[in-house]
Amino acid sequence: MTPAIPAIEIHNLSKSFGPRRQRNQALRNLSLSIAQGEVFGFLGPNGAGKSTTIKLMLGFLKPDSGIMQILGKNLDQEEFRHQIGYLSEFPVFYDHLTARETLLLSGRLSGMPRQAIDQRIRILLERMTLAEAADRRVGGFSKGMKQRLGMANALVHDPEVLIFDEPMSGLDPVGRHQIKGLISELKQQGKTIFFSSHILSDIEALCDRIGVIHKGVLLYSGELNNFLGTSVSLEEQFVRAIHEANHASAA
Ligand SMILES: Nc1ncnc2c1ncn2[C@@H]1O[C@H](COP(=O)(O)OP(=O)(O)OP(=O)(O)O)[C@@H](O)[C@H]1O
Ligand SMILES: [Mg+2]
Repeated sequence: MTPAIPAIEIHNLSKSFGPRRQRNQALRNLSLSIAQGEVFGFLGPNGAGKSTTIKLMLGFLKPDSGIMQILGKNLDQEEFRHQIGYLSEFPVFYDHLTARETLLLSGRLSGMPRQAIDQRIRILLERMTLAEAADRRVGGFSKGMKQRLGMANALVHDPEVLIFDEPMSGLDPVGRHQIKGLISELKQQGKTIFFSSHILSDIEALCDRIGVIHKGVLLYSGELNNFLGTSVSLEEQFVRAIHEANHASAA
């Protein structure tokens, strides 16, 4: 892995939805560069375009225009998928599979050898406090359990770049603490983590750099400390930035 190659590179990305006359421009000329080993927090109000950006990064949506690369590779290159771990905003599983079978399926789809998958599953179920529920069907899991399983699922193949869409949502304080610890641990291992969140205290605790998006436009990207300026908290500065952007677009 060459550190000089950015983990994630996005250039002039635009995406709109809907028929021509009611076009909803979800993203406008978004450009971002995330270095390898960085923890990057992506924040913005509801409907700002965070999940759309993430789905474009994973190739689930097609952009209107723009260029994206993960570890220097275009998204149509098969090998890029093995380098990425993804947690969706709304993790969905096969209800009839158990937690263990769910992870086994993901490991198999990633082309991992069976022994390596079994070892990984053991570690991840333990780490996500799901060991006792390992052989229960996922259909009966609570929201928080599904969220933790989604996190394990993103990590089965030990990818270099992790993309999490609201990883702490729906978790109790213990679960949130667990995910924060996990993100710190992944950073120590040199992984790159890009995650969206509305929990600003978590972003403050974990991130080196942040991106702030509003109505599909990137308002800020850079060091967390630079964004904070003289504000006492990220919340105060975030609310101010959104307010100023609304004011500017109304003027
Ligand atoms: N599949 C879709 N079809 C139509 N419009 C969409 C679709 N996906 C997203 N949008 C629109 O794109 C905009 C951005 O949505 P997105 O889900 O990216 O926001 P978000 O920042 O993730 O919000 P939240 O914090 O609520 O998850 C919204 O106006 C949304 O309605
Ligand atoms: Mg979203």
